[in-house]
Amino acid sequence: MMESPFKADIVKGQVVLITGGGSGIGFEISTQFGKHGASVAIMGRRKQVLDSAVSTLHSFGIKAVGFEGDVRKQEDAIRVVESTFKHFGKIDILVNAAAGNFLVSAEDLSPNGFRTVMDIDSVGTFTMCHAALKYLKKGGQGRDSASGGIIINISATLHYTASWYQIHVSAAKAAVDSITRNLALEWGTDYNIRVNGIAPGPIGDTPGMSKLAPDDIDSKARDFMPLYKLGEKWDIAIAALYLASNAGKYINGTVLVVDGGLWLSRPRH
Ligand code: HXC
Repeated sequence: MMESPFKADIVKGQVVLITGGGSGIGFEISTQFGKHGASVAIMGRRKQVLDSAVSTLHSFGIKAVGFEGDVRKQEDAIRVVESTFKHFGKIDILVNAAAGNFLVSAEDLSPNGFRTVMDIDSVGTFTMCHAALKYLKKGGQGRDSASGGIIINISATLHYTASWYQIHVSAAKAAVDSITRNLALEWGTDYNIRVNGIAPGPIGDTPGMSKLAPDDIDSKARDFMPLYKLGEKWDIAIAALYLASNAGKYINGTVLVVDGGLWLSRPRH
């Protein structure tokens, strides 16, 4: 485990709710926020995954709780947000890390398959933000208040160009980035809520990579990668901590690309 560049108390006393927080990048975010002082609520569909994630977090001495729910269901979103509030007494930070993905050509993708990923990534992100607003705005202090809550949306870089067999995810993450900017404008102005995104490149040891990356990623894709290696879940979690901490107090409406420069790269001539 890489040592943290941050002090162990940078999110001390904060309560963070992380969708998809039981596995992959979401779980690393849960872990790092916990290790830096936050109380962590994680939301996911699979009870077993949640239970094992929570017990791992407890073994690190982190205050953690898991709530079953599907971000596609508004009633689940409302219930989980309320349960988090009841359990910890407040919500300071919402991280939308739940996502769905599979590789399929546009020709073979059914409209329902397209809609499924839009529902999870885009509508799910909006639904969670919407449900959490009343807690994040902290009683509606208005534009002169010291600080509202924080939202971090996990995005991707797929839609900056175009990506083979990812039309559904590209469209969904483009919508996520729009949600990030529009909420940053509206809720940043009205409630001092900061809303930012993180766009990870290919991150090793994640459900996304095992689904999306062919086994030869190392040999083939490496030629295109400026850093010649995959990112680590840690890179994304530490970026999220930076945005959520006071270091990011003037950052609103941006999407931080954490991909080692990969999306810009092209073959050498
Ligand atoms: C084609 C597929 C498909 C596949 C599902 N569908 N899998 N089509 N190829 N492999 C279609 C189905 O045929 C159906 O359409 C529709 O999608 C809904 O399928 P369900 O099986 O009912 O969906 P559901 O059970 O809700 O599962 C959702 C899921 C699942 C997205 C399919 O994989 C999921 O929830 N995954 C979450 C975990 C995950 O993938 N995390 C990693 C995210 S990584 P029809 O028309 O038949 O009814 C990530 C990285 C992005 O996001 C950036 C990378 C760089």
